[in-house]
Amino acid sequence: MEWCLSMPKVELHAHLNGSIRDSTLLELTEGLIGKGVIDISEVEHIIKKYNRSVAEVFKLFDLIHILTTDHKTVTRITREVIEDFASENVVYLELRTTPKRNDSVGMTKRSYVEAVIKGLRSITSVDVDFVPRCEDSKSLFSSVPAIGHVRKRIYVRLLLSIDRRETAEAAMETVKLALEMRPFGVVGIDLSGNPNIGDWATYLPALKFAREQGLYVTLHCGEVPNSVEIKNMLDFRPQRIGHACHLEDEHWRQLKSSKIPVEICLTSNIRTLTIRSIDVHHFGELYKEKHPLVLCTDDSGVFSTSLTEEYKYAADSFGLGRREMFELSRNAIEYTFADSKVKEDLRNFFNSVAKKY
Ligand code: IMP
Ligand code: ZN
Repeated sequence: MEWCLSMPKVELHAHLNGSIRDSTLLELTEGLIGKGVIDISEVEHIIKKYNRSVAEVFKLFDLIHILTTDHKTVTRITREVIEDFASENVVYLELRTTPKRNDSVGMTKRSYVEAVIKGLRSITSVDVDFVPRCEDSKSLFSSVPAIGHVRKRIYVRLLLSIDRRETAEAAMETVKLALEMRPFGVVGIDLSGNPNIGDWATYLPALKFAREQGLYVTLHCGEVPNSVEIKNMLDFRPQRIGHACHLEDEHWRQLKSSKIPVEICLTSNIRTLTIRSIDVHHFGELYKEKHPLVLCTDDSGVFSTSLTEEYKYAADSFGLGRREMFELSRNAIEYTFADSKVKEDLRNFFNSVAKKY
């Protein structure tokens, strides 16, 4: 565990509100007791439950959203989540979040994203690079010596999520917002939300537009069996997909020949019973076949995990040695949505510490 903790890591599939600290969730919940906003007895068992079904997970998200949707809390959670990832030596984080409107506190999708960016700016305990750099500026890892540097350093880039509950217009609004927010580190679009609702055709115009405008796209794909949608998603050729749990033979062939990188979230898939047991998880086969893969947490708060634990879980379950874990982590650089300068900096950094691993 110590070793996995110390290894530099790349996180590409983390939902902001799903990565909330337990202590913060509890504090926010307690703050609402007696205010008539939520009935604690109705949600307590879901908060405390370990193996939540997909439906229960989304119930929990509804609760989290009630608790977190004001600007101050969004800023706080962003800060804490980044501090937490940095503390376990995540050196590049792509954080995704669904821009939300909350009229009761004057929140628009734009002001929500601004609150996230405020959170990024407010971090003082860690060196954070979140704004694309100009040509001649120093890179995060080359600007100070790797050895003897005690402060953690982390690149953070943002993805804006389209929720499957949203309309085509709302999805387009999110894409336009992402384009506007590019100077503040927004690099792409994610499609997520309850996989049992919504229709692929609704999001397609927005996703196409995002791609035409040069945003990267990643899709939650195959969380539930849905043959037609999975095929449509693979035909779209996103730059990455998340999960890929319920693919059929024909989908596997398409995925493997397309070489679309897969964001693998082991604990999430097992806890939500999306995959029946770890020994039949598709990570094993894809890893053996050298398909592009990246280990991710999905929702470290909701699933009580960390990227360190995900690496340990993969190592224990599929017999990966230290060198293999290091290479898995290093390979993830190539699947980031970062620009070439950031990738180069990360490659150099991994090279500089490779001997230790
Ligand atoms: P947020 O976008 O920062 O509010 O993060 C939580 C949201 O991410 C949830 O409400 C879902 O829309 C999405 N999400 C988190 N985990 C999953 C998942 O496993 N599948 C699909 N969507 C998810
Ligand atoms: Zn996810």
